[in-house]
Amino acid sequence: MRVFTKLFELLSALVLVAAPAAAETTQEVVNKGPNGLALTPPMGWNSWNKFACNVNEQIVRDTTDAMVASGMRDAGYQYVVIDDCWHGPRDADGFITADPQKFPSGIKALSDYVHSKGLKFGIYSDAGRLTCGGRPGSQGHEYQDALTYARWGVDYLKYDWCSTGDRNAKEGYALMADALRQSGREIVFSMCEWGTAQPWLWAQNIGNLWRTTGDISDDFGTKKKAHDWEHPMLQLLDWNEPLWPFAGPGHWNDADMLEVGNGGMTPTEYRSHFSLWAMMASPLMAGNDIAHMDDKTKSILLNKEVIAVDQDRLGVQGRRAWKDGNREVWAKPLAGGGRALLLFNRGETPAAIRATAEQLSWPAGIRAKVRDLWAHKNVGRWSGSIETTVEPHGVAMFTVGP
Ligand code: GLA
Repeated sequence: MRVFTKLFELLSALVLVAAPAAAETTQEVVNKGPNGLALTPPMGWNSWNKFACNVNEQIVRDTTDAMVASGMRDAGYQYVVIDDCWHGPRDADGFITADPQKFPSGIKALSDYVHSKGLKFGIYSDAGRLTCGGRPGSQGHEYQDALTYARWGVDYLKYDWCSTGDRNAKEGYALMADALRQSGREIVFSMCEWGTAQPWLWAQNIGNLWRTTGDISDDFGTKKKAHDWEHPMLQLLDWNEPLWPFAGPGHWNDADMLEVGNGGMTPTEYRSHFSLWAMMASPLMAGNDIAHMDDKTKSILLNKEVIAVDQDRLGVQGRRAWKDGNREVWAKPLAGGGRALLLFNRGETPAAIRATAEQLSWPAGIRAKVRDLWAHKNVGRWSGSIETTVEPHGVAMFTVGP
């Protein structure tokens, strides 16, 4: 950890004192990932958290329409991803088909529809014999499946890790990464190995994003869970945070899809979930029913100032800079030398939280502008620290910079 801390200080100092263009150039040259795609964390929608195996063609079409009508597309949510359970059987030649009941028009027609609305299309498979939902996996069919996806116009593949037995994770993911490259189409590769084999250590030139944990449950922090593999939002946060040195343009730590709008957390908690994911430069894949979301949900998912923190082109994952019990300060270096700053109260009562220049690895004398990203207003100038009272389970989020 001490090495990481030193690294962060070094990086912070660099970002601050070097001309911004120099820091960005280094990032851009060194860290392009496996295929030049996903230079900012992918954004979009995924069917799993809300619809699980009940996904069908109509839901995907309605969601696509709603992504446009609600302003999600224009806010940067790009990929419409069908998760597990779209599959039918393999045909006589081994090519995968869609479930004819749920997807009667076929996947190509759906992909065309999504593209016609100015969005991109994603799909799901698995490195084992079967997907986690028990559908045909890609093992032994990697090149054939990648070719099929390319023919269907797939832009994003989420690749899961169920039924893999003693398969080597690096080998399994590298094989599909190669198949995708050979397919002739640019396809973002989203690895879903749950962090078991520590993909952040070896996947920078294989995947564009890798899950770092088991599945999210729609729960702030109580650890009540339906399955062993599910974890509350706070648990995922704490597992994903220390991995900040491994994220960068083209290769992101994926703290799992969003639960915002699914009903298990309060609006305050969802604001925290969304803000924290943005601080961690995690992919922002909405996981709710976009066609029927309420105004509170919309105001969270469509907060363009928070989205901009996630999407900042410097591509540095933010980290916890200070903690005292339930009170935390998080910082994320931004292109141009500023910081996103988040004050987080994990506790059950309001808490005064103070962020200081020292926590940001900044010299005390720095002067900067401060903007509140949830109040959407400028709140004066930074002169060494900022303090505010944060509601239980809530955040205050700012940018501090030139
Ligand atoms: C795993 C993944 C989830 C989801 C399901 C589908 O649990 O981690 O994100 O894709 O499989 O069955």
